Amino acid sequence: MPSKKATLQVEGKTIDLDILTCTLGPDVIDVSSLFKDGYFTYDSGFNSTAACESKITFIDGEKGVLLYRGYPIQQLASDSNFLEVCYLLLNGELPNKQEYDSFCNHVTHHTMVHEQIRNFYNGFRRDAHPMAIMVGVVGALSAFYHDTLDINNPEHRAISALRLIAKMPTIAAMCYKYSVGQPFMPPRNEFSYAENFLHMMFGTPCEELTPSPILSRAIDRIFILHADHEQNASTATVRLAGSTGANPFACISAGIGALWGPAHGGANEAVLNMLHEIGSVENISKYIKRAKDPDDTFRLMGFGHRVYKNYDPRAKVMRETCHEVLEALGVHDEPIFKLAMELEKIALQDEYFIEKKLYPNVDFYSGITLRAIGIPSNMFTVIFALARTVGWVAQWNEMISNPYRLGRPRQLYTGPTEREYVGIPER
Ligand code: CMC
Repeated sequence: MPSKKATLQVEGKTIDLDILTCTLGPDVIDVSSLFKDGYFTYDSGFNSTAACESKITFIDGEKGVLLYRGYPIQQLASDSNFLEVCYLLLNGELPNKQEYDSFCNHVTHHTMVHEQIRNFYNGFRRDAHPMAIMVGVVGALSAFYHDTLDINNPEHRAISALRLIAKMPTIAAMCYKYSVGQPFMPPRNEFSYAENFLHMMFGTPCEELTPSPILSRAIDRIFILHADHEQNASTATVRLAGSTGANPFACISAGIGALWGPAHGGANEAVLNMLHEIGSVENISKYIKRAKDPDDTFRLMGFGHRVYKNYDPRAKVMRETCHEVLEALGVHDEPIFKLAMELEKIALQDEYFIEKKLYPNVDFYSGITLRAIGIPSNMFTVIFALARTVGWVAQWNEMISNPYRLGRPRQLYTGPTEREYVGIPER
């Protein structure tokens, strides 16, 4: 029973509300009973509203802290690997050796997609955006796994989770191969998760790819850093879709759609488009001026964050990896990367960005890193979706495993009051 109470005085009435305590972060006033007193709360953009209880990920945006199941993202990025992080997010604890081996083995043996899935790709135009293909193909997986769609069965949920995590790199790489007209490369079981992705992206039947350790590590880090981020727009979408009882493939497909926008996962692609638009170091000041102009809709892509009002801890790690990759590939002198580094420097020193706490976010550096690895910019958000799938699945599973209600927001209605219909001749 919550011991702390908040009191709301409204139009002469006093309403007592429970205060729910957290292990970390601000306490939460429970307003769910308020409608019985005739009120809704209004919080457009969810600035102050917790939509669920969760034990998975914690962010302190003021201090720049990100924890997965209590572990700091910096430690996981430097000492762990993506599949271990997947296990942690899904199960709540780090695996022992046996659990880890068994989990990796299961994921590795679910990486192939049904042969009929190829036909879906052939239905798309070659110039289709890979996110458009991914939304469709992931949603369509629900047509292939009727055997495990009972969301109330924990075993079905676990198999669906494995299938999604295992097949995402295959589906993502197939999006790329289709767009460049190359044959799909089947997954290879001797590779790690990240190596396998690089192999399916860049290997061909004529020339096998030996994935470079630095690039594989960079990809693995990108996956770790994007694996979960508590209740962001796409995760909230997955939970909302899941609250209707929809199957996990449909829910993750909804999440992919929400991730696509440039204010969310589409930002890494938008960073590269922006760098191309800026064109050269000489033009930076013009674009910085535009970003500051309140009458101009232009924003510096890859800067700012809804939650982090301090340096995004993921960006710190990604910055290191980005420089490592540019160095290893010997491309830091290429104009686009020079431009990116100069933009970072100028924005970090500019009063406007400092005052508004607009630091480079993870997508600024991941976009540049992926571009250096040779991945086309329209694949960036696909890679974000691939990595975030584990977070979406963990959050969805957490919701379904506990008592939950259909998500159904209220509104502040400001439209016309009731009026009489008038036929066309009288209008
Ligand atoms: N460039 C220039 N000005 C900016 C930027 C930017 N990138 N971001 C915010 N501002 C200004 C904004 O104009 C506003 O100014 P004012 O107070 O004078 O009206 C102020 O900073 C606060 O911005 P906001 O839009 O109210 O803040 P928000 O929390 O709603 O927006 C954001 C967060 C991420 C949508 C925004 O910073 C943005 O559009 N950034 C660029 C896109 C981007 O990089 N998105 C990726 C986010 S990280 C990936 C993820 O986790 O999904």
